[in-house]
Amino acid sequence: MAPSMEEEAPSKSRVTVVGSGNWGSVAAKLIASNTLTLPSFHDEVRMWVFEETLPSGEKLTDVINRTNENVKYLPGIKLGKNVIADPDLENAGRSMFLCFYGTDANMLVFVTPHQFMEGICKRLVGKIKGDVEAISLIKGMEVKMEGPCMISTLISQQLGLNCCVLMGANIANEIAVEKFSEATVGYRESREIAEKWVQLFSTPYFIVTAVQDVEGVELCGTLKNVVAIAAGFVDGLEMGNNTKAAIMRIGLREMKAFSKMLFSSVKDSTFFESCGVADLITTCLGGRNRKVADAFARNGGKRSFDELEAEMLQGQKLQGVSTAREVYEVLSHRGWLELFPLFATVHEICVGRLPPSAIVEHSERIPKLSLVEKST
Ligand SMILES: NC(=O)c1ccc[n+]([C@@H]2O[C@H](COP(=O)([O-])OP(=O)(O)OC[C@H]3O[C@@H](n4cnc5c(N)ncnc54)[C@H](O)[C@@H]3O)[C@@H](O)[C@H]2O)c1
Repeated sequence: MAPSMEEEAPSKSRVTVVGSGNWGSVAAKLIASNTLTLPSFHDEVRMWVFEETLPSGEKLTDVINRTNENVKYLPGIKLGKNVIADPDLENAGRSMFLCFYGTDANMLVFVTPHQFMEGICKRLVGKIKGDVEAISLIKGMEVKMEGPCMISTLISQQLGLNCCVLMGANIANEIAVEKFSEATVGYRESREIAEKWVQLFSTPYFIVTAVQDVEGVELCGTLKNVVAIAAGFVDGLEMGNNTKAAIMRIGLREMKAFSKMLFSSVKDSTFFESCGVADLITTCLGGRNRKVADAFARNGGKRSFDELEAEMLQGQKLQGVSTAREVYEVLSHRGWLELFPLFATVHEICVGRLPPSAIVEHSERIPKLSLVEKST
């Protein structure tokens, strides 16, 4: 007797990566190295590419598939032959949309700059069926009338998916060349699903730990970019290491207070995971937000972040400036501006209302910050 369709159905998980920038490409590489060896996953990893034409006239997708390299966002690194670039969002996620028999527990990894996620979700609404699990590697938030919306919540609400997060001290170019680092998966309820994500991302040089605190992990990853902008101002003004350490400490305190005031469920221990203090340190020492903010301060705030981003990052996106604006909106709306002088000052400097030197003059308002301490 022929096996039933149920019996024929694959029980392996299929992974699609939505995004192919610097971190998106590294994430695809990490995952692809694991799907080849883990029996519970299909080898092939689809990677959705926001299509663009390179100076050579070729499409980025064609070049990635021909050379196995993302020549624009991660040059010099082979992604793995089982990574297939696809410019068609609906097609890249085909396995998610045609989730036959309910046995193919597919996995969707979102990793684009956060400002594009609302549009991407709109394109996917109603198209994802079956037991699909999602994870967001995206740092940032959307601010809506009703308040801030984390990207994992946007994905859950718009696509009806359970969504974990993965954040950490993860400068993509360092992981691309397999230097040791750590990351944190934040999950809501299912430890089993969290462990599956841990398995999918872990390698001997990339150690992943799961904690039950989606909001805490995601807010750490999001807010540290604002502190990195402040650290960049300090560097650009050549204020030295003590000042930078002070700004990082004040920033960490505001990160914790803001997170806990928004979500009382956020755990103190999360700030000691890779997604917390470790990510804050690496971003303030080496990330792109720090670098562009350094240039902004050296230019006395006379060249805009947009201009510097276009000139210095070659298509990569800054997250800290838009996150500072979003955080500022939340602070203004809730009457919390005075409680978060560092966050507020970063935004005021970014939009030119204060000079870069204000980062030290305005950030250290201890009496008001102590209010925050009491309220958390
Ligand atoms: N790069 C890192 O080191 C790093 C590390 C950890 C987390 N992250 C986070 O990962 C996320 C993705 O960052 P990244 O480094 O992969 O990207 P990136 O900044 O390197 O690249 C920008 C990407 O956005 C795409 N894009 C441009 N216009 C678009 C549009 N209209 N719609 C959709 N996509 C568009 C580009 O094609 C490109 O893939 C961000 O939230 C970032 O904060 C980055």
